[in-house]
Amino acid sequence: MSNVWAVQKATTRQKGCAVVMKVAVLTGGGDCPGLNAVIRALVRKAPHHGFEVMGVRDGWQGLIEDRHFLLTRENTGGILHRGGTILGTSRCNPFKVPDGVESVKRTLAREQVDAVVAIGGEGTLSCATAMYRLGLPVIGVPKTIDNDIGLTDYTFGFDTAVHIATEAVDRLHSTAESHKRVMVVEVMGRHAGWIATHAGLAGGADVILVPERPADLVKVAEHIQHRHASGRRFSIVVVAEGALIKRGDEDEEHLVTSGKLDEAGRPRLGGIGALVGEEIERRTGVETRVSVLGYTQRGGSPTAHDRVLATRYGVYAADMVARKEWGQMAALQGNEIVSVPLADATRELKRVPSSFFEVAETFFG
Ligand code: F6P
Repeated sequence: MSNVWAVQKATTRQKGCAVVMKVAVLTGGGDCPGLNAVIRALVRKAPHHGFEVMGVRDGWQGLIEDRHFLLTRENTGGILHRGGTILGTSRCNPFKVPDGVESVKRTLAREQVDAVVAIGGEGTLSCATAMYRLGLPVIGVPKTIDNDIGLTDYTFGFDTAVHIATEAVDRLHSTAESHKRVMVVEVMGRHAGWIATHAGLAGGADVILVPERPADLVKVAEHIQHRHASGRRFSIVVVAEGALIKRGDEDEEHLVTSGKLDEAGRPRLGGIGALVGEEIERRTGVETRVSVLGYTQRGGSPTAHDRVLATRYGVYAADMVARKEWGQMAALQGNEIVSVPLADATRELKRVPSSFFEVAETFFG
């Protein structure tokens, strides 16, 4: 690896461009449409500041294991519209791996890396914050389809997920109506119901269940029964995977998990749609079907909006490195990309405010 870098530096110098910094970029956490657009933009802006860009494989794992490759205009060409990440990703947290942080430091020193750009969600950016506190030159770029990172109005990938979920809700409307059924649509959203609220609002859902508003399924069923008794032929229920629910007789709301843990040790969600559907059918007697959108919301090509937003983040991240804004994260506020402290952005998740949810609730008739 080191030799490749040495050759590249020499070549760049021969071409007369001074290489002033080496920047490592990594993508961590669940993948998200627009990751490749950020990488491409960072690489394209890099020569303006005299940077070389090192692509780290599989998130923080690649820095622990010294796995990376040189990113060039050539190998980042044609990736703007591509889903996933050319770097690979993982939920690896060096703070939870024996000798993990020391290994990251060794890689950065060995490869003479001057800055790390971490593109990720809650887990990756919390790790970036902790790395910065240890003195590493890190900046963050917020990524998640869940749109739950603090201090930024939107994360890239969210628009694509909402687009896919809205299209699904639209399609489910016609089949629900034909069969006079209840359709339950399970969408992503671990801690926040942004996708559910946006797609539900855009698709005209009759009930939306989100983590921010724990719900009693007995009341949900009553609402649906009332709708159908007053002549409505069908109902659409959008439920976020992380919504908290209870059934009348239960004391507390709970999360529905698969019983398994993910790589980061978090409960793997999923299955809430089936539970909600069963309960509605049992209590209302209306035939009910369930659709789980799952990873279709995360895979594939980003929308034009996400391509533009991700590109703006990538260009801005290069500028942040040039300004040595260590410990900061690029954020969208209004229509401007600005720098905010990573520590503040990762302090708490951004959840759907009541005022916004109430707009969607107006249509639960
Ligand atoms: O963080 C985004 C997200 O899509 C969550 O909504 C979901 O809980 C999680 O990723 C699932 O990801 P994976 O199964 O890849 O760990």
